[in-house]
Amino acid sequence: MPTVKFTKEKKEIEVPAGTDLRSAAQKAGVNLYDGFNGFGAKLNAIFNCHGLGLCGTCRVNITQGIENTNSMTFREKVKFRTPLPTPIPDPLPCLAYIGNEDSMRLACMTRIEGDIEVETGPPIDLFGTNFFS
Ligand code: FES
Repeated sequence: MPTVKFTKEKKEIEVPAGTDLRSAAQKAGVNLYDGFNGFGAKLNAIFNCHGLGLCGTCRVNITQGIENTNSMTFREKVKFRTPLPTPIPDPLPCLAYIGNEDSMRLACMTRIEGDIEVETGPPIDLFGTNFFS
């Protein structure tokens, strides 16, 4: 069975292949909804799309093993690459995606096929080199 390591929380869990990352995090007791650099985390934990791929609040960085996941879904591409209004407006996923194009995913849309390492709630670097490059 694939192993998922949540690096910030220092938790590791084994899940059956094909499990979505959101379910794996919930099983491990990991909060995916970190808000805007930690701000709004409690609200996000309640007000999210509950795995429909619409809100973007479950964004994670797959720091190792991205090849052990499914390819990026249409909903992720829309959410990360276009700052267009979606049913639940949230421009933050687009900002977080900059500089993390190869590793940023929505946990609810990510299927685990092999071992991965995950950084939950990756920070948004508004004033760093990635944002203005
Ligand atoms: S829970 Fe809303 S996009 Fe994943």
